[in-house]
Amino acid sequence: MGLLIRNGEIVTVGSRVHADVYAEGETITRIGKNLEAPPGTETVDAAGKLVFPGFIDPHVHIYLPFMATFAKDTHETASIAALIGGTTTYIEMCCPNRNDDALAGYQLWKSKASGKSACDYAFHMSVTKFAGETEGQLREVVADGTASFKIFLAYKNFFGVDDGEMYQTLTLARKLGVIVTAHCENAELVARLQQQLLAEGKTGPGWHEPSRPESVEAEGTGRFATFLENTDATGYVVHLSCQKALNVALAAKQRGVRISVESVLPHLLLDKTYAERNGVEGMKYVMSPPLREKHNQDTLWNGLALGFVDTVGTDHCPFDTQQKLLGKDAFTNIPNGIPGIEDRVNLLYTYGVKKGRIDLDRFVDCASTRAAKLFGLFPRKGTVAVGSDADLVVYDPKYRGTVSVKTQHVNNDYNGFEGMAIEGRPSVVSVRGKIQVKDGVFVGHRSRGEFLKREPSYFQM
Ligand code: URP
Ligand code: ZN
Ligand code: ZN
Repeated sequence: MGLLIRNGEIVTVGSRVHADVYAEGETITRIGKNLEAPPGTETVDAAGKLVFPGFIDPHVHIYLPFMATFAKDTHETASIAALIGGTTTYIEMCCPNRNDDALAGYQLWKSKASGKSACDYAFHMSVTKFAGETEGQLREVVADGTASFKIFLAYKNFFGVDDGEMYQTLTLARKLGVIVTAHCENAELVARLQQQLLAEGKTGPGWHEPSRPESVEAEGTGRFATFLENTDATGYVVHLSCQKALNVALAAKQRGVRISVESVLPHLLLDKTYAERNGVEGMKYVMSPPLREKHNQDTLWNGLALGFVDTVGTDHCPFDTQQKLLGKDAFTNIPNGIPGIEDRVNLLYTYGVKKGRIDLDRFVDCASTRAAKLFGLFPRKGTVAVGSDADLVVYDPKYRGTVSVKTQHVNNDYNGFEGMAIEGRPSVVSVRGKIQVKDGVFVGHRSRGEFLKREPSYFQM
């Protein structure tokens, strides 16, 4: 059965046009005025609404063994939450730790998602050590369609790699034409500062930020950039949180280093005073890099408006209040992370577009198109065009609501954005031509999601 979206305003990067979109099966086959559709076509009236390409979250954690526990979502809960919020594709971090076999980890992560996701998905493969077997294993992973890596410069002895391993990963990535995403904080400094603070009796969640200050993130970002520069690899800084780190990334861009930047919703909307709240209320806001001083938000929004910050992800990583309490005696034991997959698009639209911080063009770009381009999904994903997958978001800019744990679909007992007003939400969301969401309600197939195979595309002459 076909799908016809009538009379909406189609918004893509560089274009806004009032037209109909018709999908035959999984693919957009026609865009134009007053399209005729065969009998049996499902028709959606999008008058007064915006029609966006399905949004892409380039940084999520769903299956994640981390800090003595597991993140709360399954692919079923996370994908339904994502779709209700307008995200039709996510890229999950596949994160075996240093002691795990990387290939076995990759198969495990794939098995957790297979047949369980309602939206499409891909993986970034984390390289958490570089040993004798690593090159062969990574070649297999790339051949399987996972054409991006992830390294952590933080989380010493768990996910973290040393400089030698970073060099080897980037050198291989350069050969394979693969982009490398990186969590950029200096692991040694974090470990030392944590020990020092705990020794001084500073154990509450408010000390998490001082244990990984902006300079520690700027150092990690600068070191990653320098390694990219000297290996000729292509990189992407995940969840960049502050002005100091952005300045370092931009200076590298100016030197011609191929480096892109992601920021995440918590750093755009929340500041470090949230983590300074008492007890578990503060623990809910412990993530890495930490929430920063408020002035950094303006820097990130301005960077986003100008395209210096390329994408907005979530780093979705839900731990509930019981899990957060693992760190009641020491902030170093609080599982790091905060959920966000469901609210990213609506919060970005409300606090970005409606507040005049970014225009609609950048909104679509940073929440969908740019990620599709950077990670080898474009033009299948990330745009509304003939031949693209019919992942469509009919967006109602007149909707008014409030973010709340009471209405969320994410599997967690709090929402870090609780009480924030939203001005707009998806009224219809389709995945490859099939309507999955109507007005905040999941109406689709729970196992519709497919693993997206991607080709390497970063070969330099
Ligand atoms: O605090 C965070 N960000 N938790 C998830 C793991 C990571 O660093 O991405
Ligand atoms: Zn990270
Ligand atoms: Zn992450």
